Amino acid sequence: MASHVVEFKNVSKTYNFGRHDAFTAVRDVNFAVEDIPDEGEFIAILGPSGCGKSTILRMIAGLQPQHPCTTGEVLVDGKPVTGPGRDRGMVFQDYTSFDNRTVLDNVAFGLECQGIDRETRYAQAREWIERVGLNVDADSGKYPHELSGGMRQRVAIARSLILRPRIILMDEPFGALDPHTRMQMQDLLVELWREVQATVFFVTHSIEESVYLGDRVFILSRSPGTLLHQIAVEPPNRPALQMQREPAFQETVFQIRDILEELESPQSSATH
Ligand SMILES: Nc1ncnc2c1ncn2[C@@H]1O[C@H](COP(=O)(O)OP(=O)(O)O)[C@@H](O)[C@H]1O
Ligand SMILES: [Mg+2]
Repeated sequence: MASHVVEFKNVSKTYNFGRHDAFTAVRDVNFAVEDIPDEGEFIAILGPSGCGKSTILRMIAGLQPQHPCTTGEVLVDGKPVTGPGRDRGMVFQDYTSFDNRTVLDNVAFGLECQGIDRETRYAQAREWIERVGLNVDADSGKYPHELSGGMRQRVAIARSLILRPRIILMDEPFGALDPHTRMQMQDLLVELWREVQATVFFVTHSIEESVYLGDRVFILSRSPGTLLHQIAVEPPNRPALQMQREPAFQETVFQIRDILEELESPQSSATH
């Protein structure tokens, strides 16, 4: 039987379990992402602030203290997650490169950790610098403080994808970018994702971004978060600027906006 790339079975997470300040961040989360050969699914995750989106991502990544879950099972390739692994790469909103390393050494970092020789890792790093739309000659020797926000996220994406993870975990990666740069980054991500054929979990506050990038959009409830809706959406097979103007696209965005507004309204908290 083919296993799932990622599966959550009744997953709950209570921080500080058993202590007076115990706090349940997510409860009874269930979903499965099929393992389709040579293809990856793009899962966009939406939900009110504090509902446990980052908690879910970090449980998949195997990062403490989100890992381990308190009850249920977090499975990757059918096996319980026991910690971080090379099969999973993460990209955060905040810039996560090393200040004292150049772009080239930042992108090559993961390969360096694997003990890959200098020549090989630099050759691959140069390739990835190009792929994410930076200029090898002009940008390789720059330090993070010499880059714009968009360029930094390009480096962050290159750093992660150079390791060819099967699962890419992205936590509001474009949240700090201006709208124009953000759309460029969305198109870049679609292009790279097709190439690397990974499964992506992408947390965002932007409904447009989730509907554009996602194959499926997950909507979580207010805290403690549980998975309320899984909405299949059209894949991003044309440029962001074009697709996001189309009536069918806008219609899906409005539907999801209604669901989220209902979740965030004071009334919904009174009945909570
Ligand atoms: N290490 C932690 N210890 C205790 N509570 C935490 C911890 N990390 C997150 N939380 C709480 O769990 C809830 C969900 O957090 P998070 O997953 O970061 O939400 P989101 O990413 O959806 O905004 C929040 O109320 C947050 O304060
Ligand atoms: Mg978060």
